[in-house]
Amino acid sequence: SPSNMIAQAVQDTVMDGKNAKYIGYRSGLLGPTFRLQKGANFNIKFSNQLAEHTNIHWHGLVIPAEMDGHPDQMVMPNENFNYQFTVNQQAGTNWYHPHPHGLTGKQVTQGLAGFFIVESSEEKALNLPNGSYEVPLVIQDKRFNTDATIKYSPTMMEIMSGYMGDNILVNGTASPYLNVSTRFYRFRVLNGSSARIYNLALSNGANFYVIGADSGMLEKPESVNSLLLASGERVDILVDFTNIALNTEVYLENKTFTGMGTAQGTQAFKVMKFIVNKQETDTFKVPSSLISLAKLSNATKNRSFALTMDMANMSGGMHKINGKIYSATRIDETVAVGSTETWEFDNSTGDEPHPMHIHGVQFQVVSRTGGRNTILPQEKAWKDTVLVAPTEKVKVIVKFEQKGKFVFHCHNLEHEDDGMMLNFEVK
Ligand code: C2O
Ligand code: CU
Ligand code: CU
Repeated sequence: SPSNMIAQAVQDTVMDGKNAKYIGYRSGLLGPTFRLQKGANFNIKFSNQLAEHTNIHWHGLVIPAEMDGHPDQMVMPNENFNYQFTVNQQAGTNWYHPHPHGLTGKQVTQGLAGFFIVESSEEKALNLPNGSYEVPLVIQDKRFNTDATIKYSPTMMEIMSGYMGDNILVNGTASPYLNVSTRFYRFRVLNGSSARIYNLALSNGANFYVIGADSGMLEKPESVNSLLLASGERVDILVDFTNIALNTEVYLENKTFTGMGTAQGTQAFKVMKFIVNKQETDTFKVPSSLISLAKLSNATKNRSFALTMDMANMSGGMHKINGKIYSATRIDETVAVGSTETWEFDNSTGDEPHPMHIHGVQFQVVSRTGGRNTILPQEKAWKDTVLVAPTEKVKVIVKFEQKGKFVFHCHNLEHEDDGMMLNFEVK
């Protein structure tokens, strides 16, 4: 892994031979993929060569507040910051991106993001597909200007619906494909899009297995035919290509869906292509169990957060949590260190979906009412982001172990930049 990272404007090929300009870490549309063992130390010098402030938030990592990339902790142009922490959590698929309030959507959409994968000996013992059979995939939708820069200019309507792109990129590539062998693959899928929710399925109609979500694994694999993945969420899946005839093309696709507001789920499209072109003998069997997951219980406090949209504030600040928009100087919630609480996200009066994300913790989903009324397969693991559909209330249980000031917010980045974010302090 590199020991320094620079945010800068770079130019490279992303679009089928067409040059594209974007902002990147070092070079490339996406930053490097970090892979660290549980217990390892991470130390990187970050240098901001952009013309505006930025920083790095390590999404899914439970690390000290001063390393978390809070919107207060900006790295100004031509300044440096050392991100230094110990990875002290279970194996899972995390990621990183900037967090400057009001500019997060723009900077992430224009290219600043990357994977941060945590591995462990417990996970290794499962003998899951690895090496070239374990592939991280970040899905992002983007719009391009005619000069090949990435466009980011949400209208007032798009601040409500979310800013969606007409080009679907995987790992920074348009029309993405992967040559695969007749065997099982493990894909770590990150929805790194600003706002778009995907209903992922395989074009051959086959089921696939969910083995992990956000920053941890499930207790046992769950077979699904499709799954919804909202911005900020990750899912770890096993896909079986063993009995597929050579030279068959199988697509990872987005199926239409309803219930997530008027702008989401209206179009079916292909996300990426798998070309089955190599015969291999695979003895891998999907394990019947994965890890044991200690269930959090005995919450000592319940908090409820009303998610609302107020059309009276069209010039900024339409999206609110408990009637408030983000203020850098206000502490909205104070939590006792070491305590366990339930937090309920209440979208019962809303008509937009909100993927709610909490920094500095991992949580478990305990209930969803008023809508889909279920905990989904991709929610049965340590999570940090949960999709709250219109009409729903979703309750999560959280243990707060890191002291300091953190944020929680909607991970629709237009909603977040519009103010749908609050501060909490653990002390
Ligand atoms: Cu991935 Cu506060 O965000
Ligand atoms: Cu985060
Ligand atoms: Cu939202």
